[in-house]
Amino acid sequence: MAYNFSEKSEATFQKIKGQFPDKRSLILPCLYFLQRDQGFVDKEGMGYIAERLGDPISLAQVYGVATFYTMYNKAPVGKFHVQICSNISCYLAGSDDVTREFCNSLGIEKGETSDDGFFTVEEVQCLGACGYAPVVQINDSYHENLKPNDVSGLIQALKTEGK
Ligand code: FES
Repeated sequence: MAYNFSEKSEATFQKIKGQFPDKRSLILPCLYFLQRDQGFVDKEGMGYIAERLGDPISLAQVYGVATFYTMYNKAPVGKFHVQICSNISCYLAGSDDVTREFCNSLGIEKGETSDDGFFTVEEVQCLGACGYAPVVQINDSYHENLKPNDVSGLIQALKTEGK
């Protein structure tokens, strides 16, 4: 099925497009819309963005931006994308143990998605909240000072929320 902005994304696009005289600056929000709408950014969606922005924006430019930033998922992820910071502050505060707890509780390895499609667990670089280490981003929410003991309750709460 061909991608089009969702109603919400189209409305936001119409609202903000006049604020960016240089169309290149619209590539990032458009990629965000694409990811929010379908969970990841793919070549088809990038082509749609290039078409919507029009000359001089090309698919190659959109692709270049999408592949530069790691926060754009290049493949489908679970309903809950669990991103655990593994940089120095979080590592020293025990992020390895948090990652292990998520993986063990869900029966998956880092980078995998649970069989029910609910959870994808990944380690990522600094999430910019080092003072609250260890930090885990789940979709758009930050979970700070997370300890291994917190993980199973969090998973249960998310499963309930996701049903
Ligand atoms: Fe984890 Fe910065 S090191 S948020």
